[in-house]
Amino acid sequence: MEIHKALYTTRMMRRLRPDPIPLEVQARILDAAVRAPNGANTQRWHFVAVDDRDLIAEFAELFRRARALEYEKFSTGTGPMVAPAPGRDPEDHAETMRRIKESGDYLADHFEEIPLLLFVFAIDDLGGANIYPAIWSVLLAARAEGVGGVMTLVLRNFEDRVNELLGVPVEEGWNMSAMLTLGYPRGKWGVAANRHPVHEVSSRNGWNTPFGVEVPQPLWPPRDDAMGTLAAVG
Ligand SMILES: Cc1cc2nc3c(=O)[nH]c(=O)nc-3n(C[C@H](O)[C@H](O)[C@H](O)COP(=O)(O)O)c2cc1C
Repeated sequence: MEIHKALYTTRMMRRLRPDPIPLEVQARILDAAVRAPNGANTQRWHFVAVDDRDLIAEFAELFRRARALEYEKFSTGTGPMVAPAPGRDPEDHAETMRRIKESGDYLADHFEEIPLLLFVFAIDDLGGANIYPAIWSVLLAARAEGVGGVMTLVLRNFEDRVNELLGVPVEEGWNMSAMLTLGYPRGKWGVAANRHPVHEVSSRNGWNTPFGVEVPQPLWPPRDDAMGTLAAVG
């Protein structure tokens, strides 16, 4: 797959078919992921693939409870999801959250059908910096295989139970960084167009100076008049 196609269309896919992901596909995804950069190449990461139906059913209950906790925090004005970026319209953010919740409800309600969970553990992930490249590589490599996924953190609310269910050797220092739900999507892949454009989130040589070019539309897929989608400023 062309790299820009993967970068622009790797969305969070929450509506998944129950069809299993063949082992060789799983191997290709993880084999790509372990190429990711990591500090001092210590590779202090471990991936636990879960396809046991009983275990997935246990995690389904836990996931729904953990998610309820997160939305409780959101409704009381706390937690990481509550505030939009500075200067952004809180109403827009509330609407975005409503749509994410609706899509997330589907995932939670159909959790038992998910063919594969991938738990990602790390030792000292440096606030995520040391593991997110690998996690993003999982999602990109999955995209190349036609496999969709969602990255979630909510199960960290019940980390002890997760460790217990998976037999994690916590004494070695392992912590759960994320859990990915993976499967073949029911829907179609689309460009992640719901992002603030480059010129609104970038500047040059300092915070308040324009970046120098405006990008009103995503630059992929390329258009014949590609330069027409770039507007020089200043
Ligand atoms: C750190 C992190 C945690 C996330 N947690 C969840 C989650 O618990 N549940 C979920 O459905 N999506 C989760 N997401 C996915 C985001 O909601 C998603 O990337 C965002 O809404 C943009 O959607 P898109 O990537 O499909 O365009 C998470 C993403 C990140 C980076």
